Amino acid sequence: MANIHGGPPCVSRRAFIKTISFGAVTLGSLSALTTLESCTNQDAGVGIAPLTGQKVSIALANFSALQNVGGFVRSTFGTSNNAGNPVLIIRVAASGTNAFKTMSTVCTHAACLVNNPSGGQVACPCHGSVFSTSAGNFGGVAGGPAPSGLQTFATTFDGTNITITF
Ligand code: FES
Repeated sequence: MANIHGGPPCVSRRAFIKTISFGAVTLGSLSALTTLESCTNQDAGVGIAPLTGQKVSIALANFSALQNVGGFVRSTFGTSNNAGNPVLIIRVAASGTNAFKTMSTVCTHAACLVNNPSGGQVACPCHGSVFSTSAGNFGGVAGGPAPSGLQTFATTFDGTNITITF
């Protein structure tokens, strides 16, 4: 995995475990472990998909789950948008162009998929990161090891259709 921050070279967890499983734990491997954790925490690219520029519109009338504030839909939109991973479209206000927001489900810690919203947050089942679903901090880190918030996608509402720009 490339380290985009110019720090020590990153080693994937799988490669690192493969390496140390064939030898005794030494001071050197402990040092490598420190590097591994450092890389994981600094790699802001985890969970961030390339933008496609595609606009996807859905009609609110077709989604009963989005009729009330706090409601959500979890869905993928093709194989390229959000790199083929699901997003969560969440209703954060009763009305207005910003009544809906969209976040990726890919955790920025190590790319596990987060759970569905509950109590104003989404939690990652892998290592306990928690992200906010409130309108003012949508996708922001609310706890756990994630180094940055979930990727969000511009979302507008015209009173009939919800349009997401990937
Ligand atoms: S992948 Fe580690 S907390 Fe989500």
